[in-house]
Amino acid sequence: MKNAQNLQIELSDVYFRYEDTPALNGISLQIFEGETVGLKGDNGSGKSTLLRLLNGLVYPDSGKYMLDGKEINSDSMRDTLFARALHTKIGYVFQNSDTQLFCGSVREEVEFGPRQMGLSDEEVEKRAGDVIRMLDLEKIENRPPYHLSGGEKKKTALAAVLSMNPDILMLDEPMNGLDKKTVEWLTGFMSLWKEAGKTLIVATHDENLLYGIADKVIELHEGKII
Ligand SMILES: Nc1ncnc2c1ncn2[C@@H]1O[C@H](COP(=O)(O)OP(=O)(O)OP(=O)(O)O)[C@@H](O)[C@H]1O
Ligand SMILES: [Mg+2]
Repeated sequence: MKNAQNLQIELSDVYFRYEDTPALNGISLQIFEGETVGLKGDNGSGKSTLLRLLNGLVYPDSGKYMLDGKEINSDSMRDTLFARALHTKIGYVFQNSDTQLFCGSVREEVEFGPRQMGLSDEEVEKRAGDVIRMLDLEKIENRPPYHLSGGEKKKTALAAVLSMNPDILMLDEPMNGLDKKTVEWLTGFMSLWKEAGKTLIVATHDENLLYGIADKVIELHEGKII
């Protein structure tokens, strides 16, 4: 693990509720640059909500979220440049790919992020091509995402995130729906990501998935760390 001294993410006593459902109940944690962190816990324990909060899609009702020393809240995220910087820094693959994919084809999906970053057409095409090849998506690159299988959608969502070359990768139940070959590929990829000194946060029920690579595992129960 590289750069272990750099505190990247810090939550202090964070509470969050969806209308009448409390989801995070006093979460405090620290994640350092380059760490590989597992998030486990039963269904409904708050894993996906925690990832949503770390990605600035919801904000703490109380408590504090600091990313690289800057507070993430509705005020700071109103600044569109600041919000864009967060979404470039963190690549987030949702648990449900259907809510992540919205373009007309797989290739457009993979090109979307780099285009939003303002890269040249040439650079956008190069990045998308590289990721499409790496994930073996050439055969489906012109197909609309809503016609793909669950596993193909998941790979497309992952490709769309990787083409932005994020510093931090957050995966929510990444192996769901993937075939054996893709699971093996993703397992190897996570190790390479770690070796590159980049931060990885993975929510999963499957403890074996992180065996040998997680620096720490955070277990949630009813929105609390146990
Ligand atoms: N959009 C939402 N609106 C209202 N309540 C929600 C919403 N999303 C999640 N919840 C509730 O918040 C709590 C935490 O849910 P969350 O999705 O974070 O759990 P999880 O640990 O990811 O579960 P799973 O293992 O099933 O993916 C649960 O009680 C859930 O019912
Ligand atoms: Mg979840």
